[in-house]
Amino acid sequence: MTVTIIAARAENNALGKNNDLVWDLPADMKFFKDTTRGHVVITGRKNYESIPERFRPLKNRTNVVITRNAAYDAKGAFVVTDLRKAIELARDKGETEAFVIGGGQIYALALRLDLVDKMYLTRVHGEFDADVFFPDFNEDHWDVTEVFRHEADVNHACGFTVFEYIRKR
Ligand SMILES: NC(=O)c1ccc[n+]([C@@H]2O[C@H](COP(=O)([O-])OP(=O)(O)OC[C@H]3O[C@@H](n4cnc5c(N)ncnc54)[C@H](OP(=O)(O)O)[C@@H]3O)[C@@H](O)[C@H]2O)c1
Repeated sequence: MTVTIIAARAENNALGKNNDLVWDLPADMKFFKDTTRGHVVITGRKNYESIPERFRPLKNRTNVVITRNAAYDAKGAFVVTDLRKAIELARDKGETEAFVIGGGQIYALALRLDLVDKMYLTRVHGEFDADVFFPDFNEDHWDVTEVFRHEADVNHACGFTVFEYIRKR
């Protein structure tokens, strides 16, 4: 099973602020939805709560929430207290590609534990004020290819480029 991070980070690695995103990029959101549809998505408790209640659990996906609170109640989602357990759960379900969808703490944990095989990282072409950032990682350990680029337009205040990272093993 492939473990894939999917994230959008600005030029200064900004991910979000006040438990929310700091941009509205519909074409990148569509890429997220299309890529993760039908798969297991693994999320930190804070990112999960940042999703408007009416949209969670994210539909057409198996949602797994990571929290240290074993009694955490997330209707329609699985709750686990450990990232490795989330990955095991996905594997037990016969998943072929499980997506780590954030936020910052969970991305950092997944990379630190070297559990990630692949990443879709959108580079948002701007710098944003933020309180959560994508973690630093060693680019030398990854093969990178560009997936597509989207220019700024009437629906997108800034352009962005989606890159695929494959972990060298
Ligand atoms: N731009 C993007 O692509 C993107 C994607 C996702 C999220 N975001 C943004 O990221 C921000 C949220 O990220 P965040 O870093 O604040 O929080 P987070 O990673 O979503 O969640 C953090 C929570 O996960 C749980 N957790 C963390 N480490 C754990 C461990 N080792 N074992 C068990 N549970 C653990 C804890 O939950 P408990 O406190 O319940 O124990 C912790 O408070 C928001 O602003 C969101 O909009 C951006």
